[in-house]
Amino acid sequence: MKPIIIANWKMNPQSSKEANKLFEDIEKEIKDIKKAEIVICPPFVFLPSFTNIKKGAQDVFLEKGGAFTGEVSPLMLKDLGCEYVIVGHSERRKYFGETDEIINKKIKAALENNLTPIFCVGETKKEKEENRTEEVLKREIKGGLKGLGSFEVTLAYEPIWAIGTGNACEVKTAAKMRGIIKDILEESFGKGVSKTPILYGGSVNSKNAAGYIKEAGFQGLLVGGASLDAKEFGKIVESVV
Ligand code: 13P
Repeated sequence: MKPIIIANWKMNPQSSKEANKLFEDIEKEIKDIKKAEIVICPPFVFLPSFTNIKKGAQDVFLEKGGAFTGEVSPLMLKDLGCEYVIVGHSERRKYFGETDEIINKKIKAALENNLTPIFCVGETKKEKEENRTEEVLKREIKGGLKGLGSFEVTLAYEPIWAIGTGNACEVKTAAKMRGIIKDILEESFGKGVSKTPILYGGSVNSKNAAGYIKEAGFQGLLVGGASLDAKEFGKIVESVV
């Protein structure tokens, strides 16, 4: 399986001119790379501009349409050519009050509309210090995937303390966490889910990227800050193929 490298631009850049430039620069960096599945997740408003690279959204609403001011439906994302959608990112959990229940509904809405959810889980610094990581992951995974029989979900382990801090998870620890997540998935949903791709995210850069794929066994990466620098993002992709 090709490694899946996902760029999460978050709420950046601030103009379509900059977004187009970044997109074109990334396209140049990755044009010869065939051995990785590369997905760009820009803010909603920039989604229509991009055509040549696979794209995903950073969130989705759980209904297909109707009176939900400000929301974006899975049908709209599909119509814009999205294949993926990030669901349950820790920033959405923290700033927008997304619960496991809401995330579960969003995952179902994405799947029903043929979008692959990139389902994010991860513990805070405090939870880590209190040795509650496994308990948190169990709750998030079971809650987010509740009621789903078979599913095509891509899971992303993003320890919150590693996001945007430069303090990436050590490869050895990340490998252990991958094993724990796999066990939770199998224990909850059966052996079939062992094929579920598990990605790592949190302060990924061109120096540490390869370790997560080649040593820790992750099937891909969710890249935030470093995906806003086309050259750095290109180096990350090159380092893992
Ligand atoms: P950083 O790579 O900036 O730490 O962000 C990770 C992330 O949240 C990706 O979704």
